Amino acid sequence: MDKESMKKIAGQEAVKYIKDGMTVGLGTGSTVKYLLDALGARVVNENLRIIGVPTSNRSAKRARDLGIEVRSIDDVDHIDLTIDGADQIDENFQGIKGGGIAHLREKIVAINSDKNLWIVDDTKMAKNLGSFPLPLEVTPYGSTHLLKRLDKMGFNPKFRTNAKGQHVLTHADNYIIDLNLGYIEHPHELEKVLNNMTGIVEHGLFLDIVDVVIAGTSEGPKTFK
Ligand code: 5RP
Repeated sequence: MDKESMKKIAGQEAVKYIKDGMTVGLGTGSTVKYLLDALGARVVNENLRIIGVPTSNRSAKRARDLGIEVRSIDDVDHIDLTIDGADQIDENFQGIKGGGIAHLREKIVAINSDKNLWIVDDTKMAKNLGSFPLPLEVTPYGSTHLLKRLDKMGFNPKFRTNAKGQHVLTHADNYIIDLNLGYIEHPHELEKVLNNMTGIVEHGLFLDIVDVVIAGTSEGPKTFK
């Protein structure tokens, strides 16, 4: 089975966790797109009443186009469940996110949710984190010095740029630096280091956040709790 089909079955399985009346955090990315399609169909066919809290302008537009009511996080008093994609998940269910540059909003929505569910194709399940580059959202001001500091620390940092060589900009007009670490031996220690560095707005380590993972596999969806 190809990756797209695995993403699709993960999204279609995850939609079953959404119940009438819920406020649902809506993640970002190509896997979440399948979730939104399945959710939009339920909203129309079952008259499901839910409020979606999107983590990106892309997801907000897609959700609205599908007839899903959306609100900003500051206009809801709680979030029952957030469903999001991930870039890598290790055997302890720690994750890397931010491949799609939305990890700041995604983390804000995740930590304000009663439950978090991630949907992935099973190529993203790994023994350890780190073979996927770790994204940092950083302030443009001072970012060249921050890059040098990260380089001296041995983190192999690289600005994320577009095809024209321009900085990729986040929702908050910040830059992205990707750390090419190869292998993250101690994710919690790295998290502490990154949390303490001025200029890093948010990093893509999502530790102790997820409650349920649904992986699309060639044998069908597999759920890990
Ligand atoms: C965006 C993210 C995405 O959830 C992550 O990149 C997975 O995306 P995709 O489903 O397209 O592989 O963290 O910031």
